[in-house]
Amino acid sequence: MIRREAIIGDCRLILGDCREVLPALGTVDAVVTDPPYGISAGTGIGKVTKEGSDFRSRDQWDRAPPSKSMFDALLTMSRHQIIWGGNYFDLPPTKCFLVWDKVQPQSFSLAMAEMAWTNVDSPAKIFRWKSMSINGGAAKFHPTQKPHHLMGWCLGFLPNARTILDPFMGSGTTGVACVKLGRKFIGIEIDQDYFEIACERIQHAYAQPDMFVDRPPNPKQESLF
Ligand SMILES: C[S@@+](CC[C@H](N)C(=O)[O-])C[C@H]1O[C@@H](n2cnc3c(N)ncnc32)[C@H](O)[C@@H]1O
Repeated sequence: MIRREAIIGDCRLILGDCREVLPALGTVDAVVTDPPYGISAGTGIGKVTKEGSDFRSRDQWDRAPPSKSMFDALLTMSRHQIIWGGNYFDLPPTKCFLVWDKVQPQSFSLAMAEMAWTNVDSPAKIFRWKSMSINGGAAKFHPTQKPHHLMGWCLGFLPNARTILDPFMGSGTTGVACVKLGRKFIGIEIDQDYFEIACERIQHAYAQPDMFVDRPPNPKQESLF
């Protein structure tokens, strides 16, 4: 069930459970997403709301990874997929893992890198970006927020994908990267606070002067979704 919907430029943001929303969506060019890994990443970090970090709450969203049938649906509804945390999920063998090197000092407890499963026809690639400077020093809105530069780098592997779906949108980082690269975006988020943060970030991204710096050459007018 769609609890709320916002259309911002070429982005459609949906508040709801993607397990219920996906069957009504039809096909998209690519799924670029960062699902719950099932490692309780939010636990103890605190939920980040519009009012700031609430370190008393315990997020439940990372308790379990998506089901096999969810991944089957994502692979069926799109030509291309880039799925962060792919090393945690039951996905087919692939030649191209994308690796985010967080450029962190040696640590026994913290991950120094994260991996995305893809069906991209490329050898494995590495992106180096300090995890601390997630958005070039800008505010962090979600406990497991990805840098938008990382998601923009991912989109570079999908030059012909016009409409990108992120069914686990969080604070909307994939959408921000889509705005900056002139792609259409559909995002779904189950948590109302993160949905609202995503709406604000995407609105803000459209107001930035560096938008459309790398818009793919396809000026043909098509229906939005
Ligand atoms: C790893 S986080 C994504 C973080 C995001 N990449 C960012 O930069 O902000 C996964 C998100 O999926 C959301 N989520 C979990 N289950 C969901 C579901 N069934 N439908 C939609 N969203 C869901 C969680 O609330 C969480 O915000």
